[in-house]
Amino acid sequence: MADLSPKLLPVGYQSRSATTADVHAVHCLVTACENDLHGRATTGSDRIAADLGLPGLDLKYDTILVRDSTGELAGWSWVKGRRATVHVHPGHRGQGLGSSLLAWAEARAGQLGSDRIAQTVSDSDHAAIALLRSSGYSRIVTEWLLEIAMPVEPEVPEPPAGITVRPFRPGDEQAAYQLTEDAFDEWQQRRKSYAEWARHTVERATFEPAASPVALADDQMVGAVLSLDVPGNGEGYVERVAVRRDHRNRGIARMLLQEAFRTFHRQGKQTCTLWTHSDTGARSLYERIGMTVQRSSTVYGKALTAG
Ligand SMILES: CC(C)(COP(=O)(O)OP(=O)(O)OC[C@H]1O[C@@H](n2cnc3c(N)ncnc32)[C@H](O)[C@@H]1OP(=O)(O)O)[C@@H](O)C(=O)NCCC(=O)NCCS
Repeated sequence: MADLSPKLLPVGYQSRSATTADVHAVHCLVTACENDLHGRATTGSDRIAADLGLPGLDLKYDTILVRDSTGELAGWSWVKGRRATVHVHPGHRGQGLGSSLLAWAEARAGQLGSDRIAQTVSDSDHAAIALLRSSGYSRIVTEWLLEIAMPVEPEVPEPPAGITVRPFRPGDEQAAYQLTEDAFDEWQQRRKSYAEWARHTVERATFEPAASPVALADDQMVGAVLSLDVPGNGEGYVERVAVRRDHRNRGIARMLLQEAFRTFHRQGKQTCTLWTHSDTGARSLYERIGMTVQRSSTVYGKALTAG
């Protein structure tokens, strides 16, 4: 059972592992942090549910919640392999909870046999950056949130010769998994199992097939944009973009993105967003179709020493 030694916790705080019943409380914590930093929240509760349901994540040992004396969630952390996440509620900062959770995450990653640990932090979160730097972390990659405003209906170019486009439909799951994971393998460190991939894409409650166009050549999927409709924030969100290597630089990604934007526009959305990072090389493509960077995050990492 995950537990923080009371010696590591400020007086009045207690810890325990997360359960799937904690999704709502964790979502409130994460969105409180996002609102504090950016004035708006982008994480849906289904993202938290997907993270807590990750295959191979043992909630009992790989997650920790810290609550105050009233039972309110003050911070949490989870570790999967070499990836960690730490959040401290804005109302509970400056008391050492971040340091305690970071120490717990490093210890847990070490127990899991990782020789490195990494976590993503918003570039606006100066306190978290200072803590990571003073704990020996350095920058690995930069991530950007890009957004397009859609005051008028976006125009969609014609598909290149031999390519047809249609919305994602049931039965496309395996082909989309193969295509997107093959493409992401060009830079990701670990290929996802189908179950893990599906939890973050097509099995999410917010998955929006109508705004997820796929490109076909001879009935084979050669391109896909997988989108989410996050309730309440009035914007579309693109979760995955991939084009098979032998069909790149033909304008397929650009066309699929415009198609997704047009669908979201017809649904009444004013904007659409996506995250990308410095290893993908895709930022210029997004900027050329009119997306602009809204904010950035950095993945920080450090080597763990044995023991
Ligand atoms: C990123 C990715 C989706 C781009 O797919 P793509 O279909 O090759 O993209 P496009 O053809 O629309 O655009 C690519 C480039 O070709 C150019 N291009 C567009 N139409 C073209 C055409 N008809 N002829 C030649 N070049 C063309 C574009 O200007 C663009 O150049 P830029 O990057 O300098 O802006 C693809 O490289 C991929 O799957 N990468 C791996 C997965 C990944 O990183 N996905 C993004 C995660 S955020």
